[in-house]
Amino acid sequence: MCEFISCAEHTLMSASPGMPISVFCRVRPGPDTADIVVSGDRTVAVKDPSRQVEYEFAGIFGESAPQSAVFSRIGVPSIDRVEDGFNAAVLFYGQTGSGKTYSMTGSGEGDGEGLLPRCMRDLLVRTRRWTDARVVVSAVEVYLDRLRDLVEPERSGDLVIRDAGESRVDNLAEVQVSSWRECAAVLRSVAANRSTAETDMNADSSRAHTIITVRVNRRLEHRTRSSRLMFVDLAGSEDVARSGATGVRGKEACATNRSLLALGQVINALASGAAHTPYRDSKLTHIMQSSLAGNCAMSVVVTVRGGNSRETIATLNFGQCALRVQMRPVVGDRVESVADLRAELQAQTEAAAAYSLQYAAAQEELVAMAAVLERVRAPCPVCRADAATGEDAELSENDNAAAVDESSQAFANAVAAAAEAKRQKNEEDLQSALASVAVLMDRLRAASDTIARQSEMNRLLADRLRMFEPASKH
Ligand SMILES: Nc1ncnc2c1ncn2[C@@H]1O[C@H](COP(=O)(O)OP(=O)(O)O)[C@@H](O)[C@H]1O
Ligand SMILES: [Mg+2]
Repeated sequence: MCEFISCAEHTLMSASPGMPISVFCRVRPGPDTADIVVSGDRTVAVKDPSRQVEYEFAGIFGESAPQSAVFSRIGVPSIDRVEDGFNAAVLFYGQTGSGKTYSMTGSGEGDGEGLLPRCMRDLLVRTRRWTDARVVVSAVEVYLDRLRDLVEPERSGDLVIRDAGESRVDNLAEVQVSSWRECAAVLRSVAANRSTAETDMNADSSRAHTIITVRVNRRLEHRTRSSRLMFVDLAGSEDVARSGATGVRGKEACATNRSLLALGQVINALASGAAHTPYRDSKLTHIMQSSLAGNCAMSVVVTVRGGNSRETIATLNFGQCALRVQMRPVVGDRVESVADLRAELQAQTEAAAAYSLQYAAAQEELVAMAAVLERVRAPCPVCRADAATGEDAELSENDNAAAVDESSQAFANAVAAAAEAKRQKNEEDLQSALASVAVLMDRLRAASDTIARQSEMNRLLADRLRMFEPASKH
């Protein structure tokens, strides 16, 4: 019996609306930060001798911002996204020594702990509530455009970037973690392998890109949910041409420059809607292709430090370009067996029936509202009486003014007041009926969209079931 079927065939796609890359700026504390001026929560300006350039981002972390602020502003929403089945990524971009590694990894435990360990703690607490949760960590370094496995460095020779489907590094060691203790041990060994590389290979970690990927799977009713969380500590973005580096430093500089340039070009192409996006121009962008191409809720943190306004402006320009890139993350839930497929179809059919009932009820309400509107718009009998009384009074006045006594005047006033009250009430009824109609119309539109999506999903599910049911009967 062929119970298990290809996952790729059975991905239930649900896209979120387009969302731009969220770009944040963090300023490293230091004695020479007079050239960087933070104003408010979102604006940062750079002063150089001839000008002042201002930038606006999703948020600014000033010199005194704690690591916890970065976590609550960027980490928590990213983990929320992952929990909802979307991919998420956080990229740290900036000059060497501006605080990328500090922001991502941090210094030790406690207040200095960076975004990555904080996110992992949060994620692993959340996964305790999930069914069949599986969290797998891998880490790769791109140094001199070569790949290095940071979990099992001896595997580095076998690493290849997959060309088909989702871009990822094949043969990379993956470690499953189920508690913070296990995860902390993996992160420690990744950090140790990075620093070993610094001495053994003469690499400076600031000249290498580090990509840590966390794959998250969980079981939901009738389906499996998979998502990916990526942390990228990019190599320092300084203007190496000016530093005149030679030898290994020169090679590093060229490789760093090439890959950061390639990243800049990819971001530029995406921001400007260019026909071709040069993902393959560097290993860095090739590995990150799936995320950069849009199926990811992406945040970029541009880190800056004082004392070099030219570098700061270049860094902030990168951030500003990234702001214009639209992402379209997709939930890729999958059903993996015919039994699941059948159960999913049943659940979706029930959901479709419930939506149809809601739709019918909303339509009935709409008809009732239309009747109310009809009634409210009809001429009011009291107003007619008022008008008639007014005419009568006028005639009487012309014929015999003396016949209008005080009591008939009082009566006329009372009728006029009643008519005005009635008119006001009608006006209020009309306004509230119009507001209700607008709400109902929205609900109807939403219900109608949902029904259309639901029907499409049901059709797909039924087709797949038809395809696989004969196989399952063998
Ligand atoms: N926000 C910050 N608060 C305190 N120290 C910081 C901060 N950002 C960076 N540092 C310190 O500055 C130095 C350089 O930071 P680092 O993260 O290594 O830079 P990068 O990775 O960008 O080259 C480190 O000693 C780090 O601890
Ligand atoms: Mg660093």
